[in-house]
This record gives sequence, C-alpha cells and structure tokens, in this order.
Amino acid sequence: MNILLTGGSGFIGSNLVRLILAERPGWRVVNLDKLTYAGNAENLADLSGNSRYRFVRGDICNGELVADLFRNERFDAVMHLAAESHVDRSILAPSIFIETNVRGTQVLLEAAREFGVKRFLHVSTDEVYGSLGPTGLFTERTPLDPSSPYSASKASSDLLALAYFHTFKLPVVVTRCSNNYGPYQFPEKLIPLMIANAVRDLPLPVYGDGMNVRDWIHVEDHGRGLLAALELGEPGQVYNFGASSERHNIDIVKLVLKLVGKPESLIQYVKDRLGHDRRYAIDSTKAQQKLGWAPRHIFEDALAATVEWYVENRPWWERIISGEYLKYYEKQYGARK
Ligand code: NAD
Ligand code: TYD
Repeated sequence: MNILLTGGSGFIGSNLVRLILAERPGWRVVNLDKLTYAGNAENLADLSGNSRYRFVRGDICNGELVADLFRNERFDAVMHLAAESHVDRSILAPSIFIETNVRGTQVLLEAAREFGVKRFLHVSTDEVYGSLGPTGLFTERTPLDPSSPYSASKASSDLLALAYFHTFKLPVVVTRCSNNYGPYQFPEKLIPLMIANAVRDLPLPVYGDGMNVRDWIHVEDHGRGLLAALELGEPGQVYNFGASSERHNIDIVKLVLKLVGKPESLIQYVKDRLGHDRRYAIDSTKAQQKLGWAPRHIFEDALAATVEWYVENRPWWERIISGEYLKYYEKQYGARK
C-alpha cells in the first residue's frame, strides 16, 4: 500500500506515521505537510533515509502540487489529517481555518477523484456535533451543530467528503474522534500546556469555572482506530472514536499538578473562551462493533506516562514554544486575567 498521509508532521499524524511503519510492514507513507507553526519536522527526523517514508513539504491547498504528487505516486489510499486544529486560534483568526480545512480538503478530494484511490479517510472531530448537556453521548446520527470556526470548518469538510462519496462514488470514510492526548502534542492544547506551565512554575490558565467536560483518548488508540477505519470501514460511513474517559478540565489540571509535584496555587481562573462548548462525550459502539476496535489505554496511567514524556523531552517543547508561539500566547492569555 502506498499511502498519502497529510499533516504527518503534527501531533496525531507523527504518531500515526510511526504506528504504520511499525505495524504495516508492506506499507509506504508519503507525508504531505506544510510545516505550519504546528508541524515540526523534528518529530520524524529519525526517519530520513527510511525507504518506506517520504516527506514532501507542501500546502494541501496547492492544486498543482497535489495533482503532481498523485500522478507520480499513484496512491492506493489517503489518510487526511492536515488541518488548522486549535479552537482558540480559530476565534482569533478564522480565515486560515476555512482555507486549509475546507478548501484544502476539497483540493485533495478532487485529486483523489481524478486519479482514483481505494480509500479516502477523512479524519474529523466530535466537535462537529456541538455541545452536550449534562447527559447523553454523541452518536454518528447526532445532527451536526458546530459552534466554533474550527468545528464549523471541520463540519464543512466532512460534508464535502461525504458529498464526493454520494456524487462521485469516491470511497470516502469519515472518522470523528474525541480529544487526544499523548507525546508530540503542541503545548497550546490543554494537557501539554498545563504540563509545560506546571514544570516552569507558571500560572495554569483555566477557562471559566473549569467544569467543562472533554472525553479523552490516547493518540495511539486513535491511530489504531484510523487504521481500522481505513482497512475495514465501509465507504460513505462515519465512525466515532472515544475512550469513555470524560473528565472536568479542573480535575485534569489538578491531576497534572499532582503528577508534576507542584501546588494547586498555580491554578489561575481566566476569562472564558467565547462560545465555549460545555461537554463532549462519545459513543463509539459502532466502531467497536463494525471495526473490531477498542481503546487500550487507561486515562490516569496514560496521562502519567504523557507527563513523564514531557518532563523527559523538555528540549523538544522548549524549542517549539519560542518565536511565533510566544506572540500567540501573549495575545491569547495576556489580556485574559
Ligand atoms: P496538529 O495541529 O498537531 O497538526 C496539523 C498538521 O497539519 C501540522 O503538521 C501542520 O503543519 C499541517 N498543516 C496545516 N495546514 C496545512 C496545509 N495547508 N497543508 C499541509 N499541511 C498542513 O493537529 P492534530 O491534533 O494532529 O490533528 C490532526 C487532525 O485530527 C486534524 O484534522 C484534526 O481536526 C483532527 N482531530 C484532532 C483531535 C485532537 O484532539 N487533537 C481530535 C479529533 C480530530
Ligand atoms: P483544547 O485542548 O483547546 O481542546 P478543545 O477545545 O478542542 O476541546 O481545550 C480542552 C478544554 O480545556 C476546553 O474546555 C478548553 C479548556 N482550556 C482551558 O481551560 N485553558 C487553556 O489554556 C486551554 C488551552 C484550554
């Protein structure tokens, strides 16, 4: 199998490239990534020279580049992960989310249609379903009701991908996963941000009352789900992934402080995120039954391992939180207290 994997230099993509190379010996992966602030070539630097891996720096919105790649590589399948992925940035500057997540997805769908592939896996998020009240779970039949520019752009791309199945019979499979955690996550997302701040004795900014709920899944469990969806998913179908690990934000922040060995006095409640979704929770019964998939990691154990990874790999995140990120941090948190 020759796979086009977009966004392979990001958090989920880089973990997925490693998983594929380790567990699918006959596969070759071409990673198309623009290396935005969120993409880091260092994540996969040790793979240079590996004949089963090729890195192409490029923008998924560049139709000519994408068409050339499809023409030359004759891909069997696409795993599409490249995206702008952070809700807070989509509130500060929405346009690039529409460009990359909507336009970029359409460029890839069009190339896949022109050149033909056996599967087009579109990797999406549970955030397209909007926010839940205190009870209930998102199923694949939950109506789309996105609330942020990020989730609206992802919902748009899901609909485009499914439209290419219905209209052109492109064998599209859509996955929607809950919040991921694990190694190589950019420290702007809740868990790595809290770890990096705790380690440096900086305030831990908690939005609102800290009682928003997210449903956490380890990035490797998500990666295994994506492989199962690619290999066993039915075209035109949507599969939810989650690990039934709902936690209040504040409880995660307190757990991180405990694991790092820092006091709760570092917690700083700040102004709430605009339009902040209250609760996400996933029903992954369909993926479990139809794909034979199940999560393997237990949240508290895997969070402890994640904290350990960030403590041991401090140079990795210290390098990437300089420069552009410092400017973002000041804009996002400077005026929030
Ligand atoms: P990330 O921000 O860590 O990585 C995104 C990658 O895409 C980066 O390497 C970046 O350089 C690349 N990229 C961005 N714009 C590009 C463009 N125009 N052309 C080519 N490459 C581009 O994101 P992530 O957390 O790894 O998420 C990957 C995918 O999974 C996204 O589609 C996201 O919506 C989805 N997802 C994420 C989560 C989560 O909890 N992180 C949960 C469910 C779904
Ligand atoms: P995030 O990691 O941005 O993921 P998403 O918004 O896509 O679910 O945020 C997870 C939760 O943590 C969300 O409810 C917002 C909250 N949060 C904070 O309280 N403080 C922060 O500094 C960040 C980044 C997030």
